[in-house]
This record gives sequence, C-alpha cells and structure tokens, in this order.
Amino acid sequence: MSTRSEQARAVLRANDRGGYCVPTARLYPFQWNWDSAFVAMGWATFDEARGWREIESLLIGQWEDGLVPQIVFHAPSDDYFPGPEVWGISRTPPTSGITQPPVLATAAARLWQGAKDRATSEERAAAVYPRLLASHHWWANARDPQGTGLVATLHPWETGMDNSPAWDAAMARVPTDTVTMIRRRDTSHVDPAMRPRAEDYQRFIHLVDAFRSVAWQPARMLQISPFKVADIGTNAILLRAERDLLRLAGRFGSPRDRAEIAERITRMEAAIGRLWDPALGLFRCFDLIGGAAIPVGISAGFLPLFAGAASTEQVHVLAATLDRWTALVPWLVPSTDPGHASFEPLRYWRGPVWAVVNWMIATGFADAGNTTIATRIRDDTRRLISTGGLSEYFDPTNGKGVGGADFSWTAAISLLLQDAGVKA
Ligand code: DGY
Repeated sequence: MSTRSEQARAVLRANDRGGYCVPTARLYPFQWNWDSAFVAMGWATFDEARGWREIESLLIGQWEDGLVPQIVFHAPSDDYFPGPEVWGISRTPPTSGITQPPVLATAAARLWQGAKDRATSEERAAAVYPRLLASHHWWANARDPQGTGLVATLHPWETGMDNSPAWDAAMARVPTDTVTMIRRRDTSHVDPAMRPRAEDYQRFIHLVDAFRSVAWQPARMLQISPFKVADIGTNAILLRAERDLLRLAGRFGSPRDRAEIAERITRMEAAIGRLWDPALGLFRCFDLIGGAAIPVGISAGFLPLFAGAASTEQVHVLAATLDRWTALVPWLVPSTDPGHASFEPLRYWRGPVWAVVNWMIATGFADAGNTTIATRIRDDTRRLISTGGLSEYFDPTNGKGVGGADFSWTAAISLLLQDAGVKA
C-alpha cells in the first residue's frame, strides 16, 4: 500500500469518534451530512462495514419527516459555534434544523454496487433504502412543494458553499441583527483570512434565529426565509442522487417508488436545463426571491455533468470554460471563476479548490466521455494533496493547503483517487 493511502487511512481513523468521523478535530467536532457521504465512500475502499456504519450513524439524526440534518451532535463539544443550544432542537442526539447537499444515496449505491462482501451489503443497503427514499421525499415536499423540478435552499450552510460570491446579492437582503449572541470558535482554530467574515456570520445566525422562531416547520421556513435560492450544486447533486436511488429502488423498492423517482428525474432534468447560461458557459444558480438568475461563475456550475444533465454541446462549452479558468490559475478547480471580481484565493468558498468538488466534476466529465479533462482534474487533485497535505481546501494560485488540516473528506477523495479496484 502506498504511503499516501496509509496517511489517508490514518486520518480517517484519527477522526473516527466511534462509528462516525468528525470532518477534522476541533474546527468541526460533530458529524456533518455531506462530509459523511464522501467519508463513507473513502472507508469503503478498505473497510466496507465501516463505510456502511458512517451512513447509518448519520441516519440516526434523521427526522420523522425525512430531513437528514446538516449536523448531528453525537457528543458535546465547546469547540464549535453554533452548538445545539442555538438550534434549540430537542432530539437525542440533538441536530441542526437545516440540511446539506444530498450525496448520501450516491454513496450508498456506490457501496452497494462495489461491495466485495455481497451478503452484508445487500442487508445494509436494504435497511437504509427506505430512509434514503424518505429523505428524497422530504426534499420534494419541503423544498419543492409546487413540483417545479428545482429544490429551494434556505441557508448558505445548506449549500455547503457558505460564503460563495453566488450568495452575496441574495444575502444582502438578510438583516444582520441576531437574537443569539455570536461567539465564533472557527477563527480561533483557523486563520480568519480563510474564513467567512463577521457580517456573513451575523446573517447566517439571523437565519437560524428566524427558523427557530417558526419551530423549524418546513412550510413556515419556506414562507418566511429572506434567503431562498435554487442552488445549482444542490440541485445537480440531488438529480444524481435520484438516479442512484432509482438503481437501489430497482433492487429494494416497489414499482410505485420507481415511478415516483423517475417522475422527479424527468422534472429535474428539464428544470436544470433552464439554468444553462450560454454567456457564462456554465450552469448558474437562481434567486427565488429576486426572481432572477445569479450571474456568478462558481465551480458548482459544472456539477450538472455529475448529474448527467449536460448535452453534448454543453459538455464542450463547459470544457472551454474550464480552459479559460486554467489560463488564470494553475490549479483546478477554483470554487469561484478566477476572472470574477469577488474571487479570493484563500477565503473558503470564494476561490479555493475543494477535493470533493473536483472529484464530482471529474466524474461528470469522465461520464460524459471527456477523459482528458477528467484526468487533468484528478491529477491536479492528487498533486494538490501530495504537496498541500490532506487539507480542507487549497489555494488555486500556488497549490498550498489551507483551512483545517487532516481533513476526513480530503482523505476520502485521496483514497477514491487511488482505489484501483473501483472507477475513480
Ligand atoms: C461551518 O460552520 O463553517 C460549516 O460550514 C457549517 O456547515
């Protein structure tokens, strides 16, 4: 086994808190939703049972209406803000009241299909399938009750891309006053120049206060939220997850399940198609309150490739867009168009490269038949990891590792990129 694999396995083991991984020690001391989906796939490259356990642990936090929360607070920690007391949700274990991009069904389908231990994987996939189905029902009912084919996101934390410039204009509508006293912990663990600004946090917490005041009822949240966007990342990831859920439904579901999922897929394909921006050469997000497209190029704009939602012509244009970005920064894929005025190479989702996004974009290009670009992105990701370590994210101008160190999802991607047995 290579030293790199050893290191990646060691990070997962060190971040294991007993059936779930924290993203990294101190900065993120609980279980996070989309982190765990990638982490499950990483574990499965050398310990399939532990991969399933990661998914099952996250589902311990699932709500009765199907919501899979963004954070499950399995054990107390004073290292993170906002902790369970701010969310005010009395469950055991406590959870946050919002969600994150739904990678989980994709992870479960991958574990099931790639399993060496067939019997165990059949049993565990059969057990999680109804929970995944419930979670996709939640997305449809809570976030697209009119059946438009696009789900709404109500908090930048739900996109996972917290301070992306794509949210700047929509977030300007969110007031900065808060009921909750803000006691940030992140900036004592990581250089504040790599984190969201103070004003971003005021708005993030204003939204949490607002949702708590309506007791986290989905319909009320949708009604009162001053931030409501159709995030291209979340919608593309959900479409991919629906396709993967359909594969699971082929084995574990009913004809009715399959018909429902297929119907949602058809609606989403059409709606995502309408988010294509020929001028940007990219898919874009849509501001559901302002009623206008968001003309900011972000790496999530490539994710319809991962969802199998780009036409042959669009695949060519997306490749050309990436070429243009490559002329501006040496490392792919910056989270924001490096030619955009808001690009900041160090600040979290305003510029840095994220290994998980690279993996999804590379998978998308490979699925669409462009193996040259897929290989380029995978090679860049491997080289970033070998020079910048298993960091949270990377500076696209010089390849340095930034943010938190020893990051679980970067370790998982490192393993996926080295796993000879399974298609990267
Ligand atoms: C944070 O606290 O920085 C997270 O991104 C929220 O999920």
